[in-house]
Amino acid sequence: MRSVPLASSSPLAEQASGLRRLRRARPVRVLAVTSGKGGVGKTNVSVNLAIALAQSGKSVMLMDADLGLANVDVLLGLPAGPNLAHVIDGRCSLEEVVVRGPRDVRIIPAASGVQRMASLTPQQHAGLIRAFGELGVDLDVMVVDTAAGVSDSVVLFSLAAQEIIVVVCDEPPSITDAYALIKLLHRDYGQQRFHILPNMTRTAREGQDIFQKLARVCDRFLDVAIDLVGVVPYDEHVRRAVRRQLAVVDAYPQSAAAVAFKKLACSTDKWPVPDHARGHLEFFVERLFQAGQRGAEDYP
Ligand SMILES: Nc1ncnc2c1ncn2[C@@H]1O[C@H](COP(=O)(O)OP(=O)(O)O)[C@@H](O)[C@H]1O
Ligand SMILES: [Mg+2]
Repeated sequence: MRSVPLASSSPLAEQASGLRRLRRARPVRVLAVTSGKGGVGKTNVSVNLAIALAQSGKSVMLMDADLGLANVDVLLGLPAGPNLAHVIDGRCSLEEVVVRGPRDVRIIPAASGVQRMASLTPQQHAGLIRAFGELGVDLDVMVVDTAAGVSDSVVLFSLAAQEIIVVVCDEPPSITDAYALIKLLHRDYGQQRFHILPNMTRTAREGQDIFQKLARVCDRFLDVAIDLVGVVPYDEHVRRAVRRQLAVVDAYPQSAAAVAFKKLACSTDKWPVPDHARGHLEFFVERLFQAGQRGAEDYP
């Protein structure tokens, strides 16, 4: 079906733009998925959370902020094309970079542009804000899949998001790395709130146990609020879906992992919107820039 552009003066066009304004009054929620340690399931959580949110009727964008291997593009078999670096250089629009994924999730693929977002010139920054502002979609949620470790880009994207989901599994390095990341974001950047998501759990109790271990050290040494936002069991269907380059919520919707991802998507919807949340996606870039400035002040 071909869509016919509406004349800007028609009552229908006015109604559409009024509706758009109304929708835009609601902030775009930005959720960063992070972990400290690699290989704990961040990318699978990001992809499945994004698609589950889209299944529930939300307009969703998924940003791959990890330059490592086996990321969103590989997971979903996406074609290679222009990337954020081209947008930063003004060589193409964000629209040309965005790939349509399953359930119409808009995907910004990983690229060197992601790292460069930490050190933009004021002109590049203004250009990027404009690029995000001109993106002709009304988003409800943006999910950001971050890299492992505590690099500048992880800090930046976590601070620019409104909510931070920390994925953790039952291995001592995963728990200590998650704690190290929480500590850094809290002590050095004043982040107060973290959502904990145990992944690949083998028993019903394991998720609770992992959360308790993390809660004990956080309570003892930091003044942060952490909550258990869900538990994703170890499920062979996740690996099978990865091999088919599909998301488990689409490929095996009845599987235990898919059910857990859908529950997580439902629960994010009920999280209170922070007071400082602003309406447009441009503000995400704005926060990124501010976080970058703070980083530069901290490490001259
Ligand atoms: N709930 C799960 N059950 C089984 N395997 C999982 C689950 N979550 C992730 N995996 C597997 O763990 C590996 C690492 O997942 P990935 O999402 O790439 O981690 P990260 O992005 O944190 O490096 C992948 O092979 C993935 O298929
Ligand atoms: Mg990953």
